[in-house]
Amino acid sequence: MCGIVGYIGEEQAAPVLLEGLGKLEYRGYDSAGVAVHNDSGLHVVKSKGRLAVLEEILHKGETLPGTVGIGHTRWATHGAPSDVNSHPQVSDGGTFAVVHNGIIENYLYLKNHLKRRGVEFVSDTDTEVVAQMLEYYYSRNGEGPDPVLAAIKQVTDRVEGSYALGIICADCPEKVFAVRKDSPLIVGLGDRENFIASDVTAILSRTRRICRLKDREIAVLERDGASFFDGDLYPIEKPEETVEWDVAAAEKGGYEHFMMKEICEQPEALRKTISPRIREGRIQLDDIPLSREDIQGISRIFIVACGTSYHVGAVAKYAFEKLLRLPIEVDVASEFRYRDPILDEKTLVIIISQSGETADTLAALREAKRQGARTLSIVNVVGSTIANESDGVLYTWAGPEIAVASTKAYSTQLAMIYLIALYMVQELGVLPEEELAGYVEALEELPQMAARCLEEGKEAIQYFAAQYFNAGDMYFIGRNVDYAASLEASLKLKEISYIHSEAYTGGELKHGPISLIEDGVLVIAICTYGKLFDKMMANIREVKARGAVVLGIGTEDMRSKLAQETDWQFCVPKVPDFMLPSMSILPLQLFAYYVASMKGCDIDKPRNLAKSVTVE
Ligand code: F6R
Repeated sequence: MCGIVGYIGEEQAAPVLLEGLGKLEYRGYDSAGVAVHNDSGLHVVKSKGRLAVLEEILHKGETLPGTVGIGHTRWATHGAPSDVNSHPQVSDGGTFAVVHNGIIENYLYLKNHLKRRGVEFVSDTDTEVVAQMLEYYYSRNGEGPDPVLAAIKQVTDRVEGSYALGIICADCPEKVFAVRKDSPLIVGLGDRENFIASDVTAILSRTRRICRLKDREIAVLERDGASFFDGDLYPIEKPEETVEWDVAAAEKGGYEHFMMKEICEQPEALRKTISPRIREGRIQLDDIPLSREDIQGISRIFIVACGTSYHVGAVAKYAFEKLLRLPIEVDVASEFRYRDPILDEKTLVIIISQSGETADTLAALREAKRQGARTLSIVNVVGSTIANESDGVLYTWAGPEIAVASTKAYSTQLAMIYLIALYMVQELGVLPEEELAGYVEALEELPQMAARCLEEGKEAIQYFAAQYFNAGDMYFIGRNVDYAASLEASLKLKEISYIHSEAYTGGELKHGPISLIEDGVLVIAICTYGKLFDKMMANIREVKARGAVVLGIGTEDMRSKLAQETDWQFCVPKVPDFMLPSMSILPLQLFAYYVASMKGCDIDKPRNLAKSVTVE
C-alpha cells in the first residue's frame, strides 16, 4: 500500500530514489513521483502510471539534480490515480513536500479546518492535508529551536489513522525528516549517505545497517548520520540492526517473473523453515516460550489472518483439530476485529501474516491482546510490527516475497502450522511415539517432496494451461483439507489471471453452485484426501454429467482410479493427510502462473492489488 523512500548523501538523489522505488513497486503501482532539493528549491516530478513512466520523464533521474530527496509509488486510497493525486504532495506555499503511506482518517475535518483559514487544496488526497498542516504550523512557529520538528509534532498530535511520512522542507536543504504510526518505515544508515524506506528491499543494495522507528518516533537524516526523537521531541537512542537478507534474494535471478522464482524457491524456503526446528527427531520451538503447562492451559485457539494467510488458517483448523482435539476458530482479520470475539487468558490467538504489517491483522492482534488472550504470530518479515507486538513470534524463513501473489509465504506458513501442532502434540504426549515420529519424518521430507512435485509439474501443467487459458470461469472443488487448498488455488488463479473462479466443498455443489456447470466448464477437483476420495468421485460424476471438463489432482497411489473418472490428472506425492495442501497447491500455483502468462497479464503486479495492505 504505497512505498516510500528518502535519500540524503553525496550522489544524485533521483537515480537512487528511482532504484529504491523499483524495489517497492510491489506495494503499489498506479502512480509515482519524487521531490528533490537543489539550489533553486524543492522540485517535484510525478506522474500517473507505472514507475517506468516517471523514469522516462526523468531520463532515469539524470534531469533532476540534487542530493536530497524523497520518492513514492502509490496504491490509491483517497483520490483516483492521477498526476495531481500522485505523491509527493506539496504545501500551498511550496515549503514542504511529503510522501505518505497509510490513511489519515480525519483528513476531511482537518482539510475543512484549513480551508476556512484560506489554505487552497489541489488534490483529493488525505496526504495533502499533512503537507498543508506542516506549512500552516511551521509558518506560525517562528524562530523556535526547531520549527520543523515542532510542526511535525503539531501535525502528528492532530492526525488520526496510519502514516509513514517522508518530508523535506525548502528551508532545511540538508535534512530529510520521517515519522510513522501503524505503517512500516525503516531508516538505513550508510557511509555519508542515509535513507528511509517502507522496507529493507529498497535499500539493501546500499546498506544493511538499519533502525526501526516505533509509533510517533521521528528521524532526522543528515549526510553524516541520523538523530531520533520521541513523540514529545525528546532525543532518543535507536538500536542499530544488521539485515541478513541476501541481496540476490530480492532480484529476479534470471526468472521472467518474481512469482515463478518464488514458486521454485519453495523447497529451499521449506527447508530453511523446518530443519532448524527439528533436532534429533524432536521439534524445538526455541523462539517462543510455550511450555507444557502453557499448552495445557489453552482451552481454545483462534487463527486470524487475511487472504492467502487466512487460507493457511483454513488448513490449520483440520490439522489442529485432528492432532490436538482442541476447538479451533479461523477468522478473517477484518471480521474478527469487529465481531466482538469472546477471548480470555486461556485463548491462544495465532496471527498469520507474511508482511507483518497488514492493517486488519495488526488490529486483530491488538484486539486479542486487549482482551487478555495469549498471542503468537507467524510472520515472514523480521522486525515487522506484528512480529514486535505479539507475545511470541515464529518466523517463516522464506526470504523476501516480492510477487504480489503469495506462494512461498503460503508454503512456509503451512510448514510453521504443522510444526506448532506437532510441537504441542509432542509436549502433551497425546499421540503414540511412533505416530508422532512418522509425522516429524514426513515434515522433514516435505522440501524434497515439494521439489519433486514442482519438477514433474512444470511441463504437464504448462501444457494443460495452454488448453484452458481462454476460459471465462473455473471452479475448484475439494473436501476437508482439499477444500482448504481449493480456496487458495482459486484465489491464486483469479488474482493474477482475472479469470472468474470459485472454490466449493464437493458436498455443497448440489445446494446451488451446480447450476453454473454447463458444457465445457473447467472444474479442478482436488482429491488427495484419501478418506473422502470416493465421495469426491461422486461429485466429479455429478459435474461431468452436466458437461464439465475435470482436472483431478490426486496422490500418486490413486492415479489409476483418478484416471477412470477425470479428463485430465496430475498426481502429487503422498504425505500425511493434514500436510496434503503443501503438495496439491504446487501444481495449482503453476497453473495460475501459466494461465496468466498465456493471457499476457502482468503477473507480478496484478491490477488493483498491492503486496502489503497497510490500510483498512
Ligand atoms: C494473495 C496475497 C494476499 C495476502 C494478504 C495478507 O496472494 O498475497 O491475499 O495473503 O493480503 O497479507 P499478509 O500475509 O502480509 O498479512
